[in-house]
Amino acid sequence: MTKRALVTGGAGLIGSHVTDFLVRNGWQVRVLDNLEPNTHRRGKPSWINPKAEFVQGDLRDRQTITVALDKIDVVFHQAAYGGYMPEISKYVHVNSLGTAQLLEVIREKNLPIKKIIVASSQAVYSEGAGNCPKHGLVFPTVRPVEQLQKGDWEVHCPICGEITKSAPTPENAPVGGETVYGLTKVDQEKLVLLWGKQVGIPTVALRYSCTYGPRQSIFNPYTGVIAIFCTRLLNNLPPVLYEDGQQTRDFSFVEDIAGANLLACDTDNLDGLAVNVGSSEGTPIRKVAEILSQLLNIDIQPETRGEFRPGEMRHLTSDTKLIRADGYKPKVRLEEGIQRYIDWIKAQSDIRDYFTEAEQILKSKGIVHRVKGKNA
Ligand SMILES: NC(=O)c1ccc[n+]([C@@H]2O[C@H](COP(=O)([O-])OP(=O)(O)OC[C@H]3O[C@@H](n4cnc5c(N)ncnc54)[C@H](O)[C@@H]3O)[C@@H](O)[C@H]2O)c1
Ligand SMILES: [Zn+2]
Repeated sequence: MTKRALVTGGAGLIGSHVTDFLVRNGWQVRVLDNLEPNTHRRGKPSWINPKAEFVQGDLRDRQTITVALDKIDVVFHQAAYGGYMPEISKYVHVNSLGTAQLLEVIREKNLPIKKIIVASSQAVYSEGAGNCPKHGLVFPTVRPVEQLQKGDWEVHCPICGEITKSAPTPENAPVGGETVYGLTKVDQEKLVLLWGKQVGIPTVALRYSCTYGPRQSIFNPYTGVIAIFCTRLLNNLPPVLYEDGQQTRDFSFVEDIAGANLLACDTDNLDGLAVNVGSSEGTPIRKVAEILSQLLNIDIQPETRGEFRPGEMRHLTSDTKLIRADGYKPKVRLEEGIQRYIDWIKAQSDIRDYFTEAEQILKSKGIVHRVKGKNA
């Protein structure tokens, strides 16, 4: 029998690739997406799979959700408001309330949903795990703003204060949510997992690492470091590094993340769990800027201006033993994935820089700070 999926956020980076994989595997797919203007400034993107049914509507609208859930077996819940945008209530509204309402409608109508996979994020952690020379593996808390204001970017051991060395973060690390976005990703995954246990529907929360690849919005200056740096360079502007640029992230190519969704759907082993998905390799952000400038052949050095974002983690590499035990193996390495993103972006027209305007907003709203004593 044909399986039917609802992919919320299916016009976006990850959701559109999940949709393609499902269609290719013979699924009947419905996409629900409101074409969030920050992400889709030119309207409906051309890449929405023509074999999928496209419903333009908002997750926050109960009637829309009710219609979208009709005759669905599996929900791939990817829609969210992401990044470092200034609107606090919109995050809570879209991510927390939108998810809660989706679950409520399923329960109220007693819909025969067989599984829900929700897009969580590594942003649920407070800070990446670290190794202390004295205490071994420790779970540091978020770095205090007072520390960052002094330009001390290191992560200190919560027991003795020594500088720690980044270590892969396992799923049982403390979950915090140190940004508004992170907080609402915690809400999403907790709501889905605990509700699933209550009602007896299998659920999985996939904690994605930084995901990039073709279709990542070229308009959104608040999210997606590779897309932001790439659009800066293509406009002959330097990428802007926060802190000293030596903070590390775990990058995943979008097709690997989409593949993890299908894997989580096929196996029962991950049911009821929050599961890391990533490459398990940490790459300094400065290195990402260098790879991009090299592959684009645009020789512009990144800029550091003594700026930082409170709540941001210093290092985060995902420990992916759990999902690897179920056969997950990322296929696309960073350089290759970046090249594929560049090939795609070069085929897009009118690539503008939206970051310059956004950074003024971020500074005026207190999202980006400057080290004390440094002037603009
Ligand atoms: N890209 C990453 O690095 C990353 C990392 C961790 C987690 N995630 C999570 O993965 C999911 C997908 O992210 P993405 O990178 O594909 O982002 P994206 O912005 O490309 O896609 C999200 C899609 O959701 C849609 N959307 C937003 N608000 C909506 C609403 N109210 N109603 C209906 N649709 C709405 C947008 O229009 C967009 O098409 C999100 O839940 C995000 O939090 C992404
Ligand atoms: Zn210590």
